[in-house]
Amino acid sequence: MTNRNQNLQHFIHAIEAGIRGRVAQIPDAVAMTDQIFSALEQVETSGGDKPSNPRPSVCVHLEDAYSEARDGPTLIPKLCDAFASIEPELSWSPKPGSEKIAGNFYNSHANAVIVGAGGLETRQDVRVGVSLVAPGVHYPRHRHPPEEIYIVLSPGEWMQSDNPFVSKQPGDLVHNPPNVWHGMQAVTSAPLLAIWCLWTGG
Ligand SMILES: [Fe+2]
Repeated sequence: MTNRNQNLQHFIHAIEAGIRGRVAQIPDAVAMTDQIFSALEQVETSGGDKPSNPRPSVCVHLEDAYSEARDGPTLIPKLCDAFASIEPELSWSPKPGSEKIAGNFYNSHANAVIVGAGGLETRQDVRVGVSLVAPGVHYPRHRHPPEEIYIVLSPGEWMQSDNPFVSKQPGDLVHNPPNVWHGMQAVTSAPLLAIWCLWTGG
């Protein structure tokens, strides 16, 4: 039995449905998806070490991102609503080190952990979070050892390795194998909103 907060449980079910609905198109991501969602059947610790950062100004774009998601395909409007129900509890912050990046990136994006250290449920094996990028802003490429899958909630452009940016629409998935360089950018007409899931277990 789970004692997970009902809204968080509902959100986890919604991302699982959204990812499982399309992951067969990305065979390399199936094993990680299974690991993540079977791990999440167990609640590890509820609450915990969530910092309470002030809400960043970029969050004014959330409603526009929700409008895009609510026009998305099956499952995405429900995922959007499930996310909106937990969003007030999240602690958003800029990417560490982004204050050194030239231009307006620092104030034009934010991330929040949902599951994992600093999130609503503290655990080590899975990290789930969200990224929000203001319209027209580029989120610099980065890489990390954990394998990652994103589910896109609003339209945006995504790149991997040295390949050109490709357009992704609400409901699309982006799979990043371990340590692959990846980045994204919001189109000028809409903020970019996406949920990311990392397998950080053994
Ligand atoms: Fe990433």
